[in-house]
Amino acid sequence: MTNGKGTPSPLGEGRGEGRILLLGSGGREHALAWKISQSDKCEKLYIAPGNAGTAAVGENVNIKVNDFEAIKMFALRNRIQMVVVGPEDPLVNGISDYFKNDPELKDIPVIGPSKQGAVLEGSKDFAKGFMQRHGIPTAAYRTFTRETLAEGKAFLRTLQPPYVLKADGLCAGKGVLILPTLEEAERELEEMLGGMFGGASSRVVIEEFLDGIECSVFVLTDGKSYKILPEAKDYKRIGEGDTGLNTGGMGSVSPVPFATKEWMQKVEDRIIRPTVEGLKAEGIDYKGFIFFGLINTGAGGKEQGAGEPKVIEYNVRMGDPETETVMLRLKSDIVDLFEGVATGTLAERKVEFDERAAVCVMLVSGGYPGHYEKGFPITGVEDVWGSIVFHAGTAFAPPLEGTGEAQLVTNGGRVIAVSSYGKDKEEALQKSFANAKLIQFQGKNFRRDIGADL
Ligand code: AMP
Ligand code: GLY
Repeated sequence: MTNGKGTPSPLGEGRGEGRILLLGSGGREHALAWKISQSDKCEKLYIAPGNAGTAAVGENVNIKVNDFEAIKMFALRNRIQMVVVGPEDPLVNGISDYFKNDPELKDIPVIGPSKQGAVLEGSKDFAKGFMQRHGIPTAAYRTFTRETLAEGKAFLRTLQPPYVLKADGLCAGKGVLILPTLEEAERELEEMLGGMFGGASSRVVIEEFLDGIECSVFVLTDGKSYKILPEAKDYKRIGEGDTGLNTGGMGSVSPVPFATKEWMQKVEDRIIRPTVEGLKAEGIDYKGFIFFGLINTGAGGKEQGAGEPKVIEYNVRMGDPETETVMLRLKSDIVDLFEGVATGTLAERKVEFDERAAVCVMLVSGGYPGHYEKGFPITGVEDVWGSIVFHAGTAFAPPLEGTGEAQLVTNGGRVIAVSSYGKDKEEALQKSFANAKLIQFQGKNFRRDIGADL
């Protein structure tokens, strides 16, 4: 198989065709698997470890994403020709380098950056320094350690509330604290540096609070050029009206009304291009997704295209639940784009967007993001009509006595994403909310105000 321009394809020259292994097990991975499985270039899709939903679009393999040796064995035995990495963890742990440096694996491309590239997400301090070096707009900041606690407290006193403290390392999305008073900020700084998040908070970034609306922008890059994918907005808080605790994400909407052509041009010129060029200039091997967590500052309301985009964070993977809308709006063959990434020919590929709106409403377990129980039967999924159901935390339990069928049960905080298309977000939301009501499990909760602020 070639791309028609004579560039050999990693999916075509091997011992099979289009044999792809996707790593991960959430709603993001189900959405990626759904999209990958639609490609003519995908002959066989495996998902490790996957969930009850991914089993319907590929074959689940019981291997953990950080068990590199097991992944190697599986890849060799099953003549895998491409590995697509969903979550950040294996990237930060160096899965791309593991493949590149192993004589038996080196020809299998990994869609996901090297360990050095993954530091953009793995270290907030590195990310901030990188942005500073390349003139990329972001909040003013300084980094402190246990030895410089006193300076950290003095720096806090120079800032206006609220105060933003970020653990340097990965903390499963819990490492950012936004504190209303100086007293709380000083106390939390002390606790973080004292080991509140273990080694991840041995360094703490203190930064200026930015006021504005957030937007997630995604690109795929082969390290030379990049393609911008549909943007999305996610809803992080558990409660309606953006109240209560932070979650992994309660829903998403794409497109984002304030992300006009004009605004996206600012994002591309000031943020995306300097990032890709900065990576190249620093000799960082980066082939995969870059997720720009942006905030639109100074827009003075919701004026179309107004405001100054600034970077809140980089992630080295797709967002969840953004992927559950972005994949709906990506018209192009994603495996073709992955091939472009793998062979350094991304510039020759085309990215087309679906003009329709897409939304996702996440059904979560009662108690989430605090304590919740798993294993509750899920019913009504087969009654869903007009939406696409992506499984996040689901599993199959052994069949009940006397019945032959395995039971679909809850297996996580975020359980099922109900994604829909519509001519506009209102139409799409109507479908997702109607179907969200049809799916039942004990303790089910979801936000009824997804998209309402836009
Ligand atoms: P992060 O883990 O970096 O995504 O941060 C979690 C959330 O904290 C972000 O999605 C923002 O809502 C918020 N946040 C992070 N940094 C800032 C900042 N400098 N100003 C305002 N909000 C922020
Ligand atoms: N939705 C935000 C994230 O995936 O980090």
